[in-house]
Amino acid sequence: MQEKIAKTRTFRKFFEKEQISTATLHDLIDLARLGGSARNGQPWQYMLVNTPELCEKVFPHLGWAGYLSDWKGPEPGERPSAYVLCFLNKKWMKGPETEAQFDLGIATQNLLLGAMELRIGGCRIGAFSPKLADLFQMPDHLQLSLVVALGRPRETVIIEESQDEDDIRYWRDEHGVHHVPKRSLENCMVDLKERKG
Ligand SMILES: Cc1cc2nc3c(=O)[nH]c(=O)nc-3n(C[C@H](O)[C@H](O)[C@H](O)COP(=O)(O)O)c2cc1C
Repeated sequence: MQEKIAKTRTFRKFFEKEQISTATLHDLIDLARLGGSARNGQPWQYMLVNTPELCEKVFPHLGWAGYLSDWKGPEPGERPSAYVLCFLNKKWMKGPETEAQFDLGIATQNLLLGAMELRIGGCRIGAFSPKLADLFQMPDHLQLSLVVALGRPRETVIIEESQDEDDIRYWRDEHGVHHVPKRSLENCMVDLKERKG
């Protein structure tokens, strides 16, 4: 499990020509829908985008790798070949939106873990323009909350232990390898003394 989780990184460059079938995307959504959900509300719905025409319309609305300020995102030919648009169905919400957002984190992690097993990589994109939703006839009860970009990875991504707890910015080296600093296990632990009396 450690190896699977370590391998399931965020990828932002892909072999765009390698399409992902609708059946495969359905299999991945099937994993997303089985995740834990506060109050078992399961308020998420997913739309698949895997035609080159629609992918081309979605792409300009996405924000890529904020820390890589001199990189504008993947070039033509290395862009995602599919997207999963994640919509919050407000009619199905049973509690506050924060709870629903936790559920989406779990759901998309299931999806990305399953995708990696098929050698498909992905990137969750929260930084999308509100204009993305304008591409579609949106009913009032649906709210676009996250985009998962998918494709056959075309870059090497490695995780490493962060050296500076105040600097967790990912970076690319001169060979184009993408480095993701992760806080050490020690730094992730907190040990509070018990309050007396
Ligand atoms: C909720 C969420 C939103 C994210 N939004 C974006 C985004 O808008 N653009 C982007 O390039 N990466 C985005 N990412 C990817 C993160 O930058 C990435 O997870 C982080 O750099 C750690 O890399 P790792 O996923 O390989 O561990 C998002 C990740 C999450 C979980």
